[in-house]
Amino acid sequence: MPDPFAPPLDRAAFADRRDRFLRRLGGAAAVIPAAPLVTHHADVEHPFRQTSDFWYLTGFDEPGAVALFLPHQPDNPFVLFVAPKQASAEVWNGFRWGCEGAVAEFGAAVAHPIEELAQRLPGYLDGAEGIAFRVGRHPAVEPLVLKAWAAQLDRAPRSGRAALGLVAPCPLLHELRLRKSPAELERLREAARISAEAHELARQVARPGLNERQVQAVIEHHFLEQGARGPAYGSIVAGGDNACVLHYTANNATLRDGDLLLIDAGCSLADYYNGDITRTFPVNGRFSGEQRALYTLVLAAQEAAVSAVRPGATAEGVHDTAVRVLVEGLVELGLLQGSIDGIIEQGAYRHLYMHRTGHWLGLDVHDVGAYRLGEHPVQLETGMVLTVEPGLYLSDRLPVPEGQPAIAPRWKGIGIRIEDDVAVSEHGHEVLTAAALKSVAAMEQPLAG
Ligand code: GLY
Ligand code: MN
Ligand code: MN
Repeated sequence: MPDPFAPPLDRAAFADRRDRFLRRLGGAAAVIPAAPLVTHHADVEHPFRQTSDFWYLTGFDEPGAVALFLPHQPDNPFVLFVAPKQASAEVWNGFRWGCEGAVAEFGAAVAHPIEELAQRLPGYLDGAEGIAFRVGRHPAVEPLVLKAWAAQLDRAPRSGRAALGLVAPCPLLHELRLRKSPAELERLREAARISAEAHELARQVARPGLNERQVQAVIEHHFLEQGARGPAYGSIVAGGDNACVLHYTANNATLRDGDLLLIDAGCSLADYYNGDITRTFPVNGRFSGEQRALYTLVLAAQEAAVSAVRPGATAEGVHDTAVRVLVEGLVELGLLQGSIDGIIEQGAYRHLYMHRTGHWLGLDVHDVGAYRLGEHPVQLETGMVLTVEPGLYLSDRLPVPEGQPAIAPRWKGIGIRIEDDVAVSEHGHEVLTAAALKSVAAMEQPLAG
């Protein structure tokens, strides 16, 4: 059934995406599988999460389906294989659209029960000049595609035709997904709104003695209460030194007076658009001198990097902007030494800043789309959306590069990241997550109640 928290299915928008994908396929037929249900433990499954490629082209939110895109069959260019209506299954697992719904609601020219895929796939692929299928990702469907193609090749001497190659659908499809439509931007604004509100709520409740998980609960409660599916990725709620573990998700330590709290959390909407925000603030409402110096530096780097987002710039350029500000500041603070250019060239800052400054954002949190095409970094265009998330992490986990100063104890256990979601706009950019405050003053606002 449609999710009441998702906007009504915009059939024309999905049809337009399919048309554009079909045109790009040329004479190749594409086989795009939906996600299967994934086992959590024993016979219990994880909540269903559709694959983003399948969702982008169909809006169909059931597991185990397969979509065919058939430019060589203009009367039948979009075919769905789906779980058929079946009362005995629906009483356990809920409503299915079935073949009739796949045609009536989702615009398939024809729909078949998924059980008929093996038998019908060779016929649908017959006459295609190539087969667009992502190998290595869909173990249930891949053997059927390869078998159908092998049979074509076996018959080719007599039939006179066979698909000439297996091609990757990803570059064609992901180029489309990389450029967000106005409607998609609106959904990303909504994900950003809910995510930003959750961060503001978290800052109001955080205090010494609370457990990280109790802060996580406040954040994820807000996601669900606002109609999101839940967190877009494992929420990171990391007090003190835990923040120096980039993918910390244990979230089970007690918050300590004098520590910072880093929260990296964002929601995933009913139609899968995501927010991805990081904020860092003092647990007791007051930065120490070292924390303030480093926070101010990360904020300067983040604001400079956000300012670098505009049409014609590159994600690499945004990263380079952040790195330069960080390195200059770290030299001033005595945490690095040497020439700025030399440090950057040698990567002699990477024990303190070891990740990239951002990634594309959309239906996937680390969204699809190339950052480079051969030698050339991809230029930012209106409608692209990326995160900007520099940080600094002062711990003993990585060795200090030769020639660089040891980290004095007073700096250790400080992990800071500031992350916003930024859309490239005609004349520059729009910070989708601006409602999540980040100034030093805001991070020190008095504890509530
Ligand atoms: N939370 C994942 C990321 O920031 O990339
Ligand atoms: Mn993040
Ligand atoms: Mn991110």
